Amino acid sequence: MLFFFEMIITFRKYYVVTAALVIAIFSLCLLDNCSQNKNDDINNTPEKKQFAGSQTCANCHKDIYEQHLQSFHHTTSALANAQTLKGDFDSANKIFFNDHLFIAAEKKKDSFYQTAYSHGVAKLSRPFDIVIGSGKRGQTSIYWFQNYLFQLPLTYFAETNEWTLSPGYSRKVEFNRSVTSRCLECHSTYFQETTNKNSKADEFSKTNFVLGVECEKCHGSGIEHVAFHEKNPNEKIGHAILDPAKFSRIQNLDLCRLCHGGALSKSKPSFNFQAGNKLFDFFQQDSSKPISEIDVHGNQYGMLAVSKCFKNSEMTCLSCHDAHKNESMQAAQFYIKCETCHKSSSHNTCKLTSTVNQNFLETNCINCHMPEEASKAIMVIRKDESIPTSAHMRSHYISVYKDISKQILTVKK
Ligand code: HEC
Ligand code: HEC
Ligand code: HEC
Ligand code: HEC
Ligand code: HEC
Ligand code: HEC
Ligand code: HEC
Repeated sequence: MLFFFEMIITFRKYYVVTAALVIAIFSLCLLDNCSQNKNDDINNTPEKKQFAGSQTCANCHKDIYEQHLQSFHHTTSALANAQTLKGDFDSANKIFFNDHLFIAAEKKKDSFYQTAYSHGVAKLSRPFDIVIGSGKRGQTSIYWFQNYLFQLPLTYFAETNEWTLSPGYSRKVEFNRSVTSRCLECHSTYFQETTNKNSKADEFSKTNFVLGVECEKCHGSGIEHVAFHEKNPNEKIGHAILDPAKFSRIQNLDLCRLCHGGALSKSKPSFNFQAGNKLFDFFQQDSSKPISEIDVHGNQYGMLAVSKCFKNSEMTCLSCHDAHKNESMQAAQFYIKCETCHKSSSHNTCKLTSTVNQNFLETNCINCHMPEEASKAIMVIRKDESIPTSAHMRSHYISVYKDISKQILTVKK
């Protein structure tokens, strides 16, 4: 009983304790990187932003819109419901802390909850309001409490297809981790922040937010663009919209790096940065780290930036990716991108070309040079296990991996 008493007390304590609350998951917010002196925020909280909405873009950019609906950017956050929630709500939905204490993921009519039980009695229950993460690797859910958002303690972990404690949670019942604006800046298009100097943690408007990383996150607000083209249906040149194809290399990289560049410390409030801006007008310069300290999760930029390919060419993320498409399950096709720069005609092709069958070589380019690695950041502790299990992610450090290459060649023979 004492345990629960403590738990509820911690939950209440949140009204009096200011610091210490801003802990988040999936490591990118673990340090106080994402927190910030609230008093600095007041004068430069972003203006309330307005958007046309991706569905409006669909009227004139139907193909891109339909591709986008399949992308992980679109599904990375959504209102929680039967369609968007991953994980089992019928059986195997409990995490035990000891023989009488557990948290269950539950469905009641059309609503979903996480409930802590002690000796069979429900002690604390909170709704799944918003899901964060497409579920390709995992999905964490968050709930509203007044104007604050809190994380739920159970996360769906795709690697093992089960509920686990959210990454970074220890064996303690916790419903009181607040969600920071930085977490939402990476996983949504917009949340209007309403944090003020009395706020105990980041506060948000419950009505003005846009879930998913949508068109206008990368192209800026489209209200003027839509109005112009509706009025001038014969105009073939785009007006009043940001087109990353016209950005400089740095601008282009900065857009992706906002969310794929690791845990940056911000120097201005979240949601001020917009496509085309210089990242380091909004964040403190990242100190460069040795490759051994960069995690495969959430920092594709950091890994790519130390690769020879990147350093010795004009490479950007768009050299290999189409920001509108879901390209997963197409790993074997990426050699086409490598071959834009590595051709036998220019003598910078793979050293194994003469010894290995061409088709095998091509379909394995990335398995040998960008292998999947265990993340040290996305790790969860499974039921009855004490050693954490990692999610596996593609390394963006393009290099020669001798041992992995040997293994791949051996399997082939
Ligand atoms: C009423 C029609 C219409 C709507 C609605 C519309 N667009 Fe466009 N858009 C156009 C036309 C026409 C062009 C120029 C031809 C082209 O590039 O397809 C264009 C071009 C663009 C370009 C390329 C810009 C350039 O410099 O060439 C982007 C990016 C873009 N639109 C994004 C959006 C986004 C995001 C939305 C939704 C917020 C949107 N559009 C809604 C008609 C529209
Ligand atoms: C994650 C960022 C991102 C999102 C989300 C995104 N775009 Fe783009 N978009 C880009 C980039 C980057 C380019 C430039 C592509 C290039 O240079 O190859 C681009 C180019 C375009 C273009 C012009 C070139 C073309 O392919 O015709 C249009 C139009 C466009 N986007 C519309 C949209 C619409 C509509 C949506 C939402 C349904 C959307 N974009 C969502 C990043 C994004
Ligand atoms: C606002 C933050 C944000 C921006 C800006 C952004 N991304 Fe992402 N991106 C994400 C998040 C979050 C995910 C993970 C989605 C998930 O699975 O939940 C993701 C996923 C991806 C994926 C992985 C899809 C997969 O197969 O798992 C690729 C590739 C990608 N982004 C490329 C880009 C590129 C290229 C740019 C720049 C043009 C870009 N992103 C800009 C947030 C962003
Ligand atoms: C700096 C940007 C950033 C921040 C901050 C961030 N994330 Fe992420 N997150 C990403 C990106 C990018 C991915 C996907 C690619 C990867 O893992 O490298 C991702 C992946 C995830 C996934 C797995 C999605 C999937 O199925 O692949 C979950 C769940 C998640 N984040 C939850 C959170 C939560 C909850 C927070 C805040 C409490 C948070 N993240 C903070 C950028 C961020
Ligand atoms: C935009 C051009 C470009 C693209 C695309 C590209 N590379 Fe490179 N890559 C380079 C350049 C330039 C170098 C450095 C060559 C040098 O300095 O001799 C390089 C070097 C390498 C190296 C040597 C790395 C080392 O540490 O010695 C490998 C391996 C490699 N690339 C593999 C790939 C693979 C695999 C792909 C596709 C996934 C790819 N590259 C895509 C330009 C590119
Ligand atoms: C079976 C694993 C394997 C595959 C598949 C493979 N490589 Fe390699 N690659 C290697 C190894 C190992 C080396 C180093 C060989 C050496 O130094 O003797 C290498 C060397 C290279 C280099 C030269 C690095 C240097 O030292 O300058 C480039 C560039 C490269 N590979 C690109 C590619 C591309 C592009 C593909 C796909 C078409 C590819 N590789 C497919 C294992 C592989
Ligand atoms: C040289 C080619 C290349 C470049 C450049 C590149 N990527 Fe990738 N990326 C890949 C490949 C290949 C995959 C693996 C696709 C798969 O396994 O389905 C991948 C996967 C991803 C994923 C999903 C991670 C996972 O494990 O599923 C994300 C997120 C991503 N890239 C983001 C980025 C961002 C952001 C940039 C720019 C900083 C970038 N990439 C630059 C080739 C590239």
